[in-house]
Amino acid sequence: MAKVLIVFATRTGSTEEIGNIIAEGLRIAGAEVTTRKITEINNESELNGYDGYAFGAPTYHGDMIQGMKTFLFLAEKAELEGKVGAAFGAFGWSGEAPDRIFDTMKNIYKMEMVSGPMRLKSASLGGGLQMAHDYGKEIAAKIGA
Ligand SMILES: Cc1cc2nc3c(=O)[nH]c(=O)nc-3n(C[C@H](O)[C@H](O)[C@H](O)COP(=O)(O)O)c2cc1C
Repeated sequence: MAKVLIVFATRTGSTEEIGNIIAEGLRIAGAEVTTRKITEINNESELNGYDGYAFGAPTYHGDMIQGMKTFLFLAEKAELEGKVGAAFGAFGWSGEAPDRIFDTMKNIYKMEMVSGPMRLKSASLGGGLQMAHDYGKEIAAKIGA
């Protein structure tokens, strides 16, 4: 069974909510999913051993939330090359964070990325359910789950 790790940062819970829905989509597609907050990851070795990864952060002041930046430096030391990658996040109007995370996973970690990052406006979280579900399924399909 394909194993996927979802790691997220959040201030008010919206990005966590999106991560949970992506996890549901992945599980429906037959993957085994672990969901963790960035604050629960203390060592890069905790990131090893999965087939796919989705990292998520909200956008504040045109940027990803600080904790995710620190996490991305830690993830640089993990064995992620060639693994399937995806990025997501809640946003209000500009939503830069998922794009930046996606580019880091692609260009620095050399991961096999899905078609693009996934952003959901907090105001449309309900309507975005299907999008997040489908994103989970896309990750699973890319892994071959
Ligand atoms: C002080 C502040 C600054 C924000 N800056 C941005 C921004 O630059 N771009 C954007 O798209 N959303 C911005 N937002 C909206 C958040 O990204 C949005 O509320 C998001 O749902 C928060 O996600 P979270 O619940 O995971 O923390 C901002 C919100 C606050 C409170």
